[in-house]
Amino acid sequence: MKKFGLGVLGLGEGRSIISGALHSQLWTVSQLCDLDEQLGRERCREFGLTNFTTSLKTLLENPAVEVVGIYTPDHLHATHIIQALRAGKHVICTKPFLNDLTQAQEVLRAQKTSGKHIMVGQSSRFFAPFARQRSHFNTGAFGELITVEAYYNADHRWFLKKAWAKTADFKWLYGGLSHPVDLMRWYLPDIAEVMGYAALSKNGRELGLKNPDTFQFIFKSSDGIPARVSGTYHSPVIPLQRDSNMSCILRCANGASQGDYYDLRYAWKLGEQSNIETFEDQDDYYFRFGGHSHHAGEYQNYIEYFARCLTSGHSPQPDVLEGIVTVALLQAMEKSCTSGLPVKLADVLALHDLSELLPAGTP
Ligand SMILES: NC(=O)c1ccc[n+]([C@@H]2O[C@H](COP(=O)([O-])OP(=O)(O)OC[C@H]3O[C@@H](n4cnc5c(N)ncnc54)[C@H](O)[C@@H]3O)[C@@H](O)[C@H]2O)c1
Repeated sequence: MKKFGLGVLGLGEGRSIISGALHSQLWTVSQLCDLDEQLGRERCREFGLTNFTTSLKTLLENPAVEVVGIYTPDHLHATHIIQALRAGKHVICTKPFLNDLTQAQEVLRAQKTSGKHIMVGQSSRFFAPFARQRSHFNTGAFGELITVEAYYNADHRWFLKKAWAKTADFKWLYGGLSHPVDLMRWYLPDIAEVMGYAALSKNGRELGLKNPDTFQFIFKSSDGIPARVSGTYHSPVIPLQRDSNMSCILRCANGASQGDYYDLRYAWKLGEQSNIETFEDQDDYYFRFGGHSHHAGEYQNYIEYFARCLTSGHSPQPDVLEGIVTVALLQAMEKSCTSGLPVKLADVLALHDLSELLPAGTP
């Protein structure tokens, strides 16, 4: 199978995609780019690479770069996606796909005009317990889905050392909750309405965070299925033996299942049968440096999937359409917190002239 040339923009979390690509038979790393020259030198040394630039223009003009992986701060994703597409590159963009909907139309137009593919790097879908939960659910044995509960709690006080995380542009609602919201939408793509509450914790406020870091939301799908998503980001978490930082629970007519980020665990019950499967033996594949704070294995899984899609001509999931609808849902959640009222996804999409993206059947 053909190898694709990857250009990596943003070398903080971009480190994980470099590792994923270098360990893959389907990719070569063609060029690295970051405004921070010292970081660029460090990454080149770490991975034995030489082709680094501080100029995005240079990266985009490099014919060996067929796909740009975008790992810049959240509020820059839209602009960088548009620039990469206009330069004729395919795009992988980390979550949150966009920080709001202001440039969504422009992203859509750039994608259509370029004819290039966009894949949203929703890494959790590509982590063993959640991937196993999905394929198990797909067997149909669990029967009708009754509800989904997903959460992501983490003590991310260290993240606030980054200058951009303390600006008004940074929102955990997008940066953090995009994980459990994506897991929920994987099973319930047609969420119609949401309501919820958010707060800025004392810990977050004292560290200089501008926006809320504590969230509880409930959702309703277009055929009336309720779901729940929550998250906290600046306080200690429950010991991992008892609870996982990130979890997705499916309750169904014939059984129930729970995918846990830690400790790479998947538990399920079907009729009289139950089991707890663990993927701990894959810890070294998933986490290659920086303890559990990086995501190289998940990224390797998603770029290999992306390469297979590019080769076969299939649109990778989540694609630009799914990505924008998830951002619209995050925006509906934000709106509900400020208004104290339920918000319909259809109204948020209509406000941004994006009604054609409303999943079929959603009121
Ligand atoms: N599980 C996941 O998928 C996951 C995990 C962590 C981070 N992320 C995402 O990765 C992105 C980056 O986060 P991070 O923690 O690496 O932040 P970071 O601040 O550590 O790194 C961002 C890098 O982008 C560079 N940069 C900024 N503007 C640039 C520009 N115009 N041109 C070139 N380089 C530029 C900065 O110099 C910096 O090195 C965020 O969107 C974050 O949400 C995703």
